[in-house]
Parts: sequence; C-alpha cells; structure tokens
Amino acid sequence: MEWKRSGAADWYAAGFGHLWLPYTQMKTARQPLAVARTHGSRIVLTDGRELIDGIASWWTACHGYSHPHIGAAVERQLASLPHVMFGGLVHEQALTLARRLAALMPGDLGRVFFSESGSVAVEVAMKMALQYWLNQGIRTRKRFVAFRGGYHGDTTGAMAVTDPAAGMHVLFRGFLPEHFFVDLPTNEESTAALSQLLERHATEIAGLIVEPLVQGAGGMRFYDAETLRRLRAAADRYGLLLIFDEIFTGFGRAGAIFACAEAGVVPDIITVGKALTGGTLPLAATIARRNIFDAFWSDDPTHALMHGPTFMANALACAAANASLDLFEREPRLQQVKAISAALEGGLAPCRGLAEVKDVRVKGAIGVVELARIDDLDRLRARFVEEGAFIRPFGSIVYLTPAFTIGAEELVRLTDAVVKVVGELSAGRI
Ligand SMILES: Cc1ncc(COP(=O)(O)O)c(C=O)c1O
Repeated sequence: MEWKRSGAADWYAAGFGHLWLPYTQMKTARQPLAVARTHGSRIVLTDGRELIDGIASWWTACHGYSHPHIGAAVERQLASLPHVMFGGLVHEQALTLARRLAALMPGDLGRVFFSESGSVAVEVAMKMALQYWLNQGIRTRKRFVAFRGGYHGDTTGAMAVTDPAAGMHVLFRGFLPEHFFVDLPTNEESTAALSQLLERHATEIAGLIVEPLVQGAGGMRFYDAETLRRLRAAADRYGLLLIFDEIFTGFGRAGAIFACAEAGVVPDIITVGKALTGGTLPLAATIARRNIFDAFWSDDPTHALMHGPTFMANALACAAANASLDLFEREPRLQQVKAISAALEGGLAPCRGLAEVKDVRVKGAIGVVELARIDDLDRLRARFVEEGAFIRPFGSIVYLTPAFTIGAEELVRLTDAVVKVVGELSAGRI
C-alpha cells in the first residue's frame, strides 16, 4: 500500500491549499480524510484503512456505494448522451424519470421541474409559489411561513426559510428576506399560534414550507403525521400553498417511500433530491400539483416559469435516478429500512441513561443520540474514525443514516461505536 500512500500525499499536499471546505473553519479544523474508493457501506482511505459508513454521504447513498446497476446505467448513458441543454431539447431518461416520479407521488403531484441540488429545488418551489399568485394578479403574497428547527438549504432563498435563530445561517439574520417563523403545530398551543398568525397575515403569505415528519439538519427532530394534517387543514382554510421539502425524508429514509405518503397528506409542491440518484450524481426535482401548473399555463409569455439551471435534467444523473428507482422496485428497500429501524432501536438503547444523553430516538433508517452538549466535535469525529466508523456528529447530535443495504454486522459495529464513544464522552474521557 506504500505507493498508494505516497501517491495520495502528492495530490493531497499539492491540492489541499487550494480547497475551501463546507461548514469548516479552515484555520482550526482537522484535515479531512483522503478517500481512495468506496464499496457497499465502506469508505476505503488512501492509507489503506477501511471505515464503515454511518452517514451514507449525507444520506444519499441509499443502495450503498458503487452499486453495479447504477454504474452500468451511467456508463451506458455516458457513451450515448451525457448531457444536452434542456432548453428546446429533451431526452428519454428525463422524461422517463418525470413519469416515474409522478407515478410515485400521491394525488395529482405530476409536473416535474429538474434541478441539480436540493437548495435549488427549494428555490424553485418558492419561486413557483410566489409566481402562482403573481400570475393571478395577486401581488401581496410575498412571504412564507416556515418552522423553528427547520432547514431548507444554503442558497439565499432557502436560507431565509431556515430557522433564523437556531439554524446554521444565524449570522445572516437581518440580511435575508423576512418570513414568518412559528413552532410546528404539534399541540393545541402551537396550533393556536399558527392560526392566529394566519388569521392576521394570510393575505401577505404565499405558502408554508416544512420538512415533513423529520426536521433533519436543524436537529434530527421527529414529529407526527397529525401535525402535517393540521398544516394541510390550515393551508386549505386560508387558501395557502403547502410545500413539503422531502429532500431528507424522500426515498424511504423516514420509513415510508415519502413522508407525505405516511401522513396521507398531499402538499401542493414537493421537493426531492439527495437519494434521488442513489448518491451518485447531483440531481433534484420540484414537483407541482396540477393547479399550480395551471396558473402558469397561459398565452402570456410573462406567466412562464423563468428558471433553467444549465445542468437541469442532466442525462447521466437522470439515468442514475432511473436505475435507483429500478432498485427500489426490485429489491426490498422498505423492509430493509424496517430492519435497520429495529437494529438501531436495540443497538442505541444502551445510550439511554448515560449521563450526557438527553434523548435516543429512531425513525426509519435514522438513529439519533442527542447529547446535552458536545464541546469538541472534531475530537468526537476523530474518535469514531479510530473505531473504524465514519460518523459525523453536528451540534449536540450523534446520528446514523446508513445505506439501506448495510449488513447486519456492519450496523452492529456502528451502533457499538456510538455506545462506546458516547459512553466515553459521558464519563468525561473525551
Ligand atoms: C430538508 C433539506 N432541504 C434542502 C437541503 C439542501 O440540499 P442540497 O444540500 O442538495 O442543496 C437539505 C440538505 O441537507 C435538506 O436536508
């Protein structure tokens, strides 16, 4: 392995000084691990170490890494049509994918607008909602209702509907368009507060945007389907659009294929991304109901949706997404999620009762250990690597979002690592 190690050192040393990493204080952070290759639920480092992956690359790689079915589909596509612009041109992979996504959606969510990242899909959803009203001559509905604890992405529109106080964009408070933030209506009090807000401000509001059932990057909080039914009822009562951001929850992560299916609620617009291509290529989509699309259907050219990312509906990414949907059809992914759920429940249970542990919770293939606080995230992350696991806590959360195809023993190694390292932290040894 020596030659590989020195090979890696060359490109690492030569390139690292030119990189700017995500969510990273470049001055103080530990250097990132150099990855040579991936397979299944494994990340192989250039120094030969092999880590079991607890995160599935921000929960995108739902079929594990380097799945041959997706690889073969992308290779075939690369040989015939890697990409064409989507202005004036279309291709089979995109149209097939649009048809298949529409078929997976509840109700009449059937018009698919492709983009290349989750944040952009959220921007498009917000733009659709604003223009839905503008196209009807209504110019007062400029604001959104969003929820404390929510996260919708890192572009400015998405930042503005992310929790402005506790969210990661807090520095930009006062610099972004101001929307309304309330608690999710999980109880009588918060439901009344939402009603009061809508009663007072409905004519200024274009719609509500929410992560259904799981607030992900804002703290991995779970809530019930009844809350979503309340949101649907409130949106209907005041004639507002309801946007579900399923970029985290979509494609089985929270248990059902989509959270809206579990809740039996049809939003007006839904965003999907992340696991759409099985973690291989960047692709996202914003999917609208018929009434939304109808508001743009006009002889007036100014009523068109003026959006068109250069790489929208990239043919390689669409081929990967179609191959990923094949795997959902052919293989028992949702049963695997159920089995992972049970294993996470059992495997993380010993964390309950540890001094620093506030909560242990599991939903679908998401396992969370919430701590009172984590003082040294970098140190904790490094401890997991020492245990042979790639687990990346944030805030006060240690979480697992493994591939749905992870082996039972691999999953035990992950939960054992969490129990061990959280135990050390609780005992004050980290
Ligand atoms: C619910 C939700 N919305 C939007 C995004 C942004 O997606 P992307 O990172 O692809 O821009 C994320 C990413 O974590 C997310 O979890």
